Amino acid sequence: MTTVRLAIIGLGRLGRRHAANLQQTHGAQLVAACSPVAEERDWAATALPGVTLYQDYEAVLRDSQVDAVFLVTPTSLHAEQIIAALRAGKHVFCEKPLALNVEDCLAVEAEAARHPQLKVMIGFVRRFDASYRDAADKLAAGSVGRPYLLRSQTCDRNDESGFFVRFSASSGGIFMDCSIHDIDLARWLLGNPKPKRVWATGTNALHPALAEHQDVDNGVAMCEFEGGQLACFYASRTQAHGHETLTEIFATEGRLSVGANPRANRVEISDAHGVRNECVQDFYQRFAEAFVTEAQVFVDTIRDNRPSPVTLADAREATRIGLAITQAFRSGEAVSL
Ligand code: NAI
Repeated sequence: MTTVRLAIIGLGRLGRRHAANLQQTHGAQLVAACSPVAEERDWAATALPGVTLYQDYEAVLRDSQVDAVFLVTPTSLHAEQIIAALRAGKHVFCEKPLALNVEDCLAVEAEAARHPQLKVMIGFVRRFDASYRDAADKLAAGSVGRPYLLRSQTCDRNDESGFFVRFSASSGGIFMDCSIHDIDLARWLLGNPKPKRVWATGTNALHPALAEHQDVDNGVAMCEFEGGQLACFYASRTQAHGHETLTEIFATEGRLSVGANPRANRVEISDAHGVRNECVQDFYQRFAEAFVTEAQVFVDTIRDNRPSPVTLADAREATRIGLAITQAFRSGEAVSL
């Protein structure tokens, strides 16, 4: 296939960013966009000229001009939308997490197995970030010895609009929405160990309304793996300084750290307050290049008929661990996997 014709599904906070990237992706053409919300289609009519607009996802799937769908829809819809796309003969990119329960993940895997010619890739964007990639290469080369502990956090700047309080109704909660990235990193960077036991707790520092969805604005979790490796996760919605994704991998001959001091750029300000730098403000600013790379890799996977670099089994494991952590948080008990 020389040009992959794509439809973006979902034009919300992240869908609009992906749509802009797909217009620049080599070997791809953005031919369609879909949202049930009229105002979002109005945005697309201006921002995505020449793209066919759809209100109804089923209509996109009937469009023979579309080779692949790019799903940036609420997490609670991912599994059914992936399955429908595969049945319609479309390749699928889908944002993380794959689903909010393991049964749905398995149903997607079973459907994908019936269509081996179609690619399915789940958007664990950090795997496409140059710094995480470098850390993964260094670990694989054994340059810091054997990794035994990963400590990883996804911390967002406090958003007073309360977007994520409404979002919590369909996101699966802070561990499924935020820590899922760190869980995927732990599996990837520690060499796909099997999870054994998890424990979690959390607190609402600024947004008590989250309690309505059994959610928190700050969550902490631990995971023990078979073979003795450990992971500690921290997710927050309430940082004052900006977005701070930080991962440390402790190994027998050293430590790798990705993202310490989330500098916005290389300017250092020295003044009456001291010496400091400004910080990235949100996940998109931190991972903008990785999102571009991710889209290119998805398109190249289809064009070159290569295996998807993030498998459905990886995504199912992340969901399984994220769910166990959520269960541990809600029950107050350790959960064995
Ligand atoms: P959002 O709520 O801003 O956007 C969701 C979009 O889906 C809206 O445009 C909505 O109109 C559309 N939609 C709803 N029902 C639909 C349907 N039946 N058919 C087609 N479109 C439909 O949410 P946001 O923040 O853009 O998140 C979307 C997904 O992206 C979530 O799964 C989230 O977990 C993921 N995400 C991933 C991030 C990452 O770092 N990789 C960061 C932020 C979000």
